[in-house]
Amino acid sequence: MERKKELRKKILSIRNNMLKEEVENNSNVIMKKVIRLETYRQSKVIFIYMDFNNEVVTSNLIRHMLSGKKRVVIPYTDTINTVLIPSEITGEADLKQNSFGYYEPKHILPVSIEEIDLVIVPGIVFDKNLNRIGFGKGYYDRILRKLKPSAKKIAVAHDFQVLEEIPSEEHDVKMDMIITELSCYGKNIDF
Ligand SMILES: Nc1ncnc2c1ncn2[C@@H]1O[C@H](COP(=O)(O)OP(=O)(O)OP(=O)(O)O)[C@@H](O)[C@H]1O
Ligand SMILES: [Mg+2]
Repeated sequence: MERKKELRKKILSIRNNMLKEEVENNSNVIMKKVIRLETYRQSKVIFIYMDFNNEVVTSNLIRHMLSGKKRVVIPYTDTINTVLIPSEITGEADLKQNSFGYYEPKHILPVSIEEIDLVIVPGIVFDKNLNRIGFGKGYYDRILRKLKPSAKKIAVAHDFQVLEEIPSEEHDVKMDMIITELSCYGKNIDF
């Protein structure tokens, strides 16, 4: 979809130009909000992305999960089958940088999709109706639709990534909540 492409480009150019300090400050505020959510507290198995290129930083939250009693699951990108394989990690030693420069599990330790209670979702553009535009390969759309109905999808983003309205297609999966440094959008699943 052409309109999605334009929006990706526009928001990515802003995100790519952020100062590291700004990225870090926003991420700290956002991750503190996540930690306070009842949904987070109740979730035992959490699927979370490894940030890169000025995405909201997830490493502090991952440390919080590992030091708590939560199981941490991250994506392994299977580019041949264009699917994300949820893989459990127990610490930094389980990670390695891939050819794109972001971290992935060193060895795949698969976790079945029904076990996942919460997904922390990355993205490029969102809107206030909880629609999402990602990198444009459908990786997240494909996995999110397979979650058990009780699992929650919480997106984290810098506030400028959330627009009034964006296009969405049949296959696009909506978020339950979008958390930014300034706001929380979405169904009142918490607070
Ligand atoms: N459940 C699905 N099964 C098969 N193909 C899908 C599915 N969901 C999306 N796709 C395909 O993926 C392609 C990209 O979709 P879209 O533009 O929504 O990506 P995106 O949401 O930006 O990307 P991503 O989910 O990787 O962050 C589309 O051509 C779409 O047909
Ligand atoms: Mg989509």
